Amino acid sequence: MHVTHLERVLGLTWPGIHSEPFGGWLLRAGRGVTSRANSALVLGDPGVPTEEALDAVAAWYRTRGLPPRLQIAASIAACGSLTEAEGGDHGRREATDAACARRGWVASPWTWVMTRPLDGEPDAAGDQTVGLGDLEVAWSGEPPPTWSPERAAEATAAPALFATVRLHGEAAGVGRLALAEDWAVLTDLTVEPQVRGRGIGGAVVEALCRRAKAERATAVALQVLADNPARRLYRRLGFSNHHAYRYRTGG
Ligand SMILES: CC(C)(COP(=O)(O)OP(=O)(O)OC[C@H]1O[C@@H](n2cnc3c(N)ncnc32)[C@H](O)[C@@H]1OP(=O)(O)O)[C@@H](O)C(=O)NCCC(=O)NCCS
Repeated sequence: MHVTHLERVLGLTWPGIHSEPFGGWLLRAGRGVTSRANSALVLGDPGVPTEEALDAVAAWYRTRGLPPRLQIAASIAACGSLTEAEGGDHGRREATDAACARRGWVASPWTWVMTRPLDGEPDAAGDQTVGLGDLEVAWSGEPPPTWSPERAAEATAAPALFATVRLHGEAAGVGRLALAEDWAVLTDLTVEPQVRGRGIGGAVVEALCRRAKAERATAVALQVLADNPARRLYRRLGFSNHHAYRYRTGG
């Protein structure tokens, strides 16, 4: 799976509330909550020279009261997932990142995209401590009512399923699943702080993967900040690094 293709799939599951193609790029604007919904996704060729593309992106965001922001993917040496076949897109992404740097657009920390095939039966690694029997999983097309309307609007801009998990009747965690092509994308995994470290996070991921499989997805992807210890959990559950991306934000 090429980086550009997977970035496009991820974009389909988090498209922003308003979106507009710009050549091969996708301009997205939401309610200003998540960087994903409020950034231009750099995919293929924007169709105009880089500097002209950045001017157009800046103007598009400024008219919406948002700072100009690009989401730019990259291969990290350790990841080694970029193939020769996408050398063109890779070079364009590097040139775009460098042009943003020259403008003083600030780089965010890296986010890893991790993937896991859904070919075998999902294992029970996440259920080690808390048996699934202790957890009730409820599915809904709407996020929990505790979310702000702005965040909820960005999270439902593409159809999604929200798993709300209760432990002994108490709200314990949540996760979001969105489907595009034959991919399932997991986002918004959160466990209530007082019950972390007891296997609930793993159990939620497994519940989302089982549902993804039932919905005929063949692979799962998620995005996680490079410094988030949740990466250990994901590795334990069979996810591996695919590529990384970061944002460049103008003033
Ligand atoms: C990530 C999160 C959902 C994990 O939930 P959980 O119920 O504690 O998960 P589990 O008990 O199944 O597994 C615990 C594992 O999570 C990882 N982990 C996540 N956050 C951690 C932290 N702050 N400190 C230590 N380990 C952490 C570790 O791998 C840990 O297991 P290990 O120490 O055996 O490696 C929870 O920590 C959380 O809600 N964090 C804040 C939101 C967040 O970062 N979500 C992920 C977004 S990609």
